[in-house]
Amino acid sequence: MKKTILALVAITAPLLLGASKPIYLDSSKPMDLRVDDALSRMNLSEKIALIHAQSKFCSPGVARLGIPELWTTDGPHGIRPEVLWDEWNQAGWTSDSCVAFPALTCLAASWNPDMSALYGKSISEEALYRGKDVLLGPGVNILRTPLNGRNFEYMGEDPYLASKMVVPYIRNCQDNGVAVCVKHYALNNQEFERHNTNVVIDDRTLYEIYLPAFKAAVEDGGAWSIMGSYNLYQNQHVCHNDRLLNKILKGEWGFDGAVISDWGGTHDTREAITNGLDLEFGTWTDGLSMGATNAYDNYHMARPYLELIEKGEVGTDELDEKCRRVLRLIFRTAMNNEKGYGSLCSDEHYEAARRIGDEGIVLLKNKKNLLPVRLDGTGKPRILVVGENAIKMMTVGGGSSSLKVQHEVLPLDGIRAFCGDRADVDFARGYIGDVNVMQDGLSTGQDLTDSRSQQQLMDEAVAKAAKADYVIFVGGLNKASGQDCEDSDRKSLGLPYGQDELIEALAKANGNLVVVNISGNPVAMPWVDKVPAIVQAWFLGSEAGNSIADILFGAVNPSGKLPMTFPVALSDVGAHAAGPASYPGIRREGSDKYDTEYSEGILVGYRWSDAKKIKPLFAFGHGLSYTTFDYGKLKADKKSIADGESITFTIPVTNSGKTAGAEIVQLYISDPESSVMRPVKELKAFEKVYLKPGETRDVKFTVGKDALSYFDADKHCWVAEPGEFVAHAAAASDDIRSSVRFSLK
Ligand code: GLC
Repeated sequence: MKKTILALVAITAPLLLGASKPIYLDSSKPMDLRVDDALSRMNLSEKIALIHAQSKFCSPGVARLGIPELWTTDGPHGIRPEVLWDEWNQAGWTSDSCVAFPALTCLAASWNPDMSALYGKSISEEALYRGKDVLLGPGVNILRTPLNGRNFEYMGEDPYLASKMVVPYIRNCQDNGVAVCVKHYALNNQEFERHNTNVVIDDRTLYEIYLPAFKAAVEDGGAWSIMGSYNLYQNQHVCHNDRLLNKILKGEWGFDGAVISDWGGTHDTREAITNGLDLEFGTWTDGLSMGATNAYDNYHMARPYLELIEKGEVGTDELDEKCRRVLRLIFRTAMNNEKGYGSLCSDEHYEAARRIGDEGIVLLKNKKNLLPVRLDGTGKPRILVVGENAIKMMTVGGGSSSLKVQHEVLPLDGIRAFCGDRADVDFARGYIGDVNVMQDGLSTGQDLTDSRSQQQLMDEAVAKAAKADYVIFVGGLNKASGQDCEDSDRKSLGLPYGQDELIEALAKANGNLVVVNISGNPVAMPWVDKVPAIVQAWFLGSEAGNSIADILFGAVNPSGKLPMTFPVALSDVGAHAAGPASYPGIRREGSDKYDTEYSEGILVGYRWSDAKKIKPLFAFGHGLSYTTFDYGKLKADKKSIADGESITFTIPVTNSGKTAGAEIVQLYISDPESSVMRPVKELKAFEKVYLKPGETRDVKFTVGKDALSYFDADKHCWVAEPGEFVAHAAAASDDIRSSVRFSLK
């Protein structure tokens, strides 16, 4: 009885006395007041614990104060399945299957910020439902070389496109109380020797090409966390790099969030203390598999840091600053009492995945208007589907972005489901690529083994092709090491597994051949002139087969455009024009370090093709439709602008075909009179317009001086030189429709 009374008093007394809850727990109080209050209550060991991991994917809060743990999760395309506390392998849960959304190359290829918003909303709802606070993505590293194994996780070669396409994802993810962790900041543009590569780059290139997407993520997206990358810059690992983290990210951009190391990216205690790292994860591992077990107390920002403080060798100012940033991240996420409960594997999420796939698939070529395949004609067309990528799940593999999906509609399944009894759909394997179906102890459950020889497989496919009305080849790359996969780069631009030879043979056997290339990177197409129709279908996730069928059979009019150049050959790429010093880098004598010189400078992607007058296989910004679009004359609302003024360009665009469709109108700017070398032109605006047959829309672009500027490394600022400029309205970087001159006073 006595205890009950005492308990009652203990609960009611404070309320009766009007004692409010502690400030740090009061979400009505200003964030920094809460942070400082929490910090003032923490002891030294709690502060040290707060700034490094306690398991593979979580860091402790402050248990004594009721500040919860912080749970991070991969990845950019969906919510990674649970792992055991200190394991990379699956925990074997049965409630953690997810929706795999299309890879970010596909999102970028949609050129539609609304799709980016939908993406961020959907994926963060899945993270919420799974109780995750920080999403380890999106990735926005610029495509410098088409060999980089992780380009499928990023948004292409152009800093402006990546900047515009990453912001809505961030805003809509964080609106749900889930932090993004934009990665991998910065200069992580290859997987070869990713932990040991020191990037040598001039400031102008750094600021014009490799920083803008991260800057937009912070300044426009308001990213709550940023992931430091594995590589080195100026001989300092980027996870504790004074210039990139303290001077630029936190100094110039005013980033108020937390810098989280990549897993195993922290290599030096003292640098970690002073150079801007706030939260250390994955140390003593390589971020994928191997590593010391339960090494959390040995992390650089764990016992070693505590010992330096106790010995009086370092102070606690940096520690308090790290804690403030981590506490802010926790208050914004784990302790965000406005956030909802999310949802997992909802119809809306599958619909979102399909829509993003539909909008991101790129129709590269369509001679004879072979596509869309018509099912409404007389008789049932005989369709032969060929290729391992028609039947191989792509959601498992590829490294940290690997997922356990609730389902994945494969291309063959999607094609069969779409056709129903309106066509006879047959299949031939055609080639054997990667029969592995496992990563991190998770299997797709498929058995892709096939004892037949390459010749037998080819013979079967060619024989069947000769009797089909249409042949749909579904090939490309996959998520195997050496393909589109983390921790490895491809060795060549070409398709693997003898696909080129097979495609040539199929083209001979049947003139109605469609090649569907599934990849996250450009590939060489030596057969391009022999194939009437080519579709670039990215790694599309759970709804892959449905999106591919939507496009092939015309349920959706393709509207994607390439976010990267497809070069004819590797030698046509800037990063590969200056030998191994430029890619993959030169190993230092007697060291495990490499130096990679970005000697092509700002001439990345189409900037290189333009400057060197190289005709690409398919250009940045290229993508066809089942309708046609006519462009009128580009007009400017003024002939010149003064400093601080803007200029508006207008171009009428007409859907001159018979099918409704969307056109991505691009605006490039040239500076023909510049005192410094500048690219021939640079993307500075774009808009995706949906038009009915016969409809005309005046597409408008308003730009200011920043669209005319280059980065002056000596002055360390952006400069727009007075003089003449040219604006180009284009359907692709190699398809300028109308231009207009104007000047900057
Ligand atoms: C990996 C990747 C990073 C990922 C992290 C956790 O090695 O580099 O993108 O988020 O480690 O898996």
